[in-house]
Amino acid sequence: MGRRARLAVLPGDGIGPEVTAAAMTVLKAVAARFSHDFIVSEWPIGAIAMRTKGVPLPEETLAACRDADAVLLGAVGDPAYDLAPRDKRPEAGLLELRKALGLYANIRPARVYRGLEGAGPLKPEIARGVDLVVVRELTGGLYFGTPRALDLAEGTAVNTLPYTRPEVERIAEVAFRLAVGRRKKVTSVDKSNVLETSQLWRAVTTDVGARHPDVVLEHQLVDSCAMNLVLYPSAFDVVVTENLFGDILSDEVGALVGSLGLLPSASLGDGPGLFEPVHGSAPALAGRDVANPIGAIATAAMLLEDGLGLTEEAAAVHRAIEAVLEKGARTADLAPRGTRALGTREMARAVADAIPAHVAV
Ligand code: IPM
Ligand code: MN
Repeated sequence: MGRRARLAVLPGDGIGPEVTAAAMTVLKAVAARFSHDFIVSEWPIGAIAMRTKGVPLPEETLAACRDADAVLLGAVGDPAYDLAPRDKRPEAGLLELRKALGLYANIRPARVYRGLEGAGPLKPEIARGVDLVVVRELTGGLYFGTPRALDLAEGTAVNTLPYTRPEVERIAEVAFRLAVGRRKKVTSVDKSNVLETSQLWRAVTTDVGARHPDVVLEHQLVDSCAMNLVLYPSAFDVVVTENLFGDILSDEVGALVGSLGLLPSASLGDGPGLFEPVHGSAPALAGRDVANPIGAIATAAMLLEDGLGLTEEAAAVHRAIEAVLEKGARTADLAPRGTRALGTREMARAVADAIPAHVAV
């Protein structure tokens, strides 16, 4: 019997509408193939919401998200708001949404697809083994800490990096539970040689690690981790870290796998999950049908699995992505010079058409 699910879709800004449309093409194919009924509604967030509603996260958008079984987001951000005050920026809408839905765990898996070993800056033999997950704390740290202030006239500004034991404990638990189903290794990333917050982070992750004796826990300082990710990327399994470090390291991981446009993410908490590709709004690419939709399509697979519990359907989407890439389909970010690149829509169609009817998981 099929599943009825309500999906709130927030296309947002820049390439957001194009990549969410691509993800929806694939979700529609999944619904048809597996006889599910996805009830889809679209809501504004970010700059488009600023323009039409005057705020980056309109009340009706938040209400629709609370009411949905899962939320799919494209991207937020628009250079037109570069000088706007923080709460009038498109990004504020996404941060408010994460906070309001209590989405403290941002799961960002990354692996090198077969055929893409040479797509990034790494030597193919180093890229080949990359298969890791960044578990980023998403509702704490510098992003939300107070006091915070900017006085441009005075030339002063302040941000605060707070964490509490329960906040670190719950994100560490997510990381350890994930590691159990993988290669059983957690790398906790901090800056404990300088920051008190990081000393707490290290103490708490060590305590949580003691509850998971079957998982190996190592600690790395964030600067050294940034280097190790390039030197020995396949040594990483699950990386757990605070909000800002996770933001920075996950873009680096995008380069490791060949393109930031490939990376999906799931933001999970106690309510409905928010599923968002790792890449941003990429204004320079917007409206040209050139963006890589695979990050958004893999995000749709995470929505199926972590949002709706549809494991077989999620596996079908992953297989379809792999099949299409193995046949040589490449968007502009990945196509070698002089070869034909597929457009965003063409790539989405190819993946949708490659959805197998049944998958053994
Ligand atoms: C991300 C993005 C966001 C973040 C921005 C758009 C607020 O860079 O999801 O990684 O910093 O979290
Ligand atoms: Mn980011």
